[in-house]
Amino acid sequence: MPIFHKFQSFAALREDLTQVATNPFNIIIEQVLSETEAIINGRRTILAGTNNYLGLTFDPRCIAAGRKALEEQGTGTTGSRMANGTYAGHLALEQEIADFFDSPTAIVFSTGYIANLAILSTIPGAKDVILLDADSHASIYDGCRLGSAEVIRFRHNDPADLDKRLARLGERASSVLIVVEGIYSMIGDQAPLQDIVAIKRKYGAYLMVDEAHSLGVLGEHGRGLAEQAGVEQEVDFIVGTFSKSLGAIGGFCVSRWPEIEHVRYAMRPYIFTASSSPSIIASTRVALGILREQGAELRQQLWDNAHRLYLGLHNLGLVLGPETSPVVAVTLGKSKEHALKVWHELLDRGVYVNLVMPPATPTASCLLRCSLSAAHTPLQIDAIVETFGALRDELQDC
Ligand SMILES: Cc1ncc(COP(=O)(O)O)c(C=O)c1O
Repeated sequence: MPIFHKFQSFAALREDLTQVATNPFNIIIEQVLSETEAIINGRRTILAGTNNYLGLTFDPRCIAAGRKALEEQGTGTTGSRMANGTYAGHLALEQEIADFFDSPTAIVFSTGYIANLAILSTIPGAKDVILLDADSHASIYDGCRLGSAEVIRFRHNDPADLDKRLARLGERASSVLIVVEGIYSMIGDQAPLQDIVAIKRKYGAYLMVDEAHSLGVLGEHGRGLAEQAGVEQEVDFIVGTFSKSLGAIGGFCVSRWPEIEHVRYAMRPYIFTASSSPSIIASTRVALGILREQGAELRQQLWDNAHRLYLGLHNLGLVLGPETSPVVAVTLGKSKEHALKVWHELLDRGVYVNLVMPPATPTASCLLRCSLSAAHTPLQIDAIVETFGALRDELQDC
């Protein structure tokens, strides 16, 4: 079967994974108990590897809105936004997102992945250049691949490298789209956005910030890193997702350029997929309202949890990301077998975290990635730290 030959390395990995009791890349949540707990392998487990930052997945207001929409509008739209898939709720959500960001317009997509595909494959054309941070999310890379712009990477969070590459482009620099993320999903570090904006201005380039992990998490009003850094007016495109702090699924783009509306019907990933179900739209609208009304309180709880976990793991002598963040990643060594073993022992002790292995990691090391929620209690955070503590020797051995 020649077309399958190239998957030999996956076959080997799959074979290795059959040797362990639980495959970390096929974990089964047998029962969801709450925002922070589930039954996995028959035991009560703390979920420390979800992106449920504000803990809204069980908010009764979101559930009630989703249920009402389900009953009144059915299970799905069965069509693209461009055909029969734009309901009043989709437009209302777009208006609410635009208002939240004080932007002239917003476009809602079926996922955050699709939002990145749509924007990056359509707006920069064949004569334009995308300059992206090397540690960008796969959806950013895939959006570039789907389009026709030239793609150049700059070193992760390195404004000097960005500057150098823009300088090399000469006159073409003014049609460059720089792409960065608010919080990077692997080790929770933030983009040096003020420096990046200064460089963008120097060359007259455009800037897109993917706030997938920073919406609801950063900024006085929860609008993300651009708000926190005081540079919202300088950001041309903000992309985000509903699948993290808003507890649902979907994506969006806001832009200070009203011209983005002309692009709506040119974006293949917008046109050629079904729109989000009415229940998703309804729960997201309520979640966005909660973010607006109660976001500050939830953000405080989230950051209290982040500080508690970061400090606890730091005190154990573990190697963490460079700054406190709701994403706290423990860096291990290069041995995948060892990383798998430690991950498994955490799970056996009732703590689920994400195991991330190269090439998905920024370096050749494996990561145990924790991501926190405002809904975690201090007791749960302490239990996570204690569980890591019980495995300290093994963790340092990796
Ligand atoms: C930085 C970033 N952008 C985009 C996405 C895609 O979001 P979604 O889950 O809505 O497809 C993710 C998902 O993890 C992400 O981390």
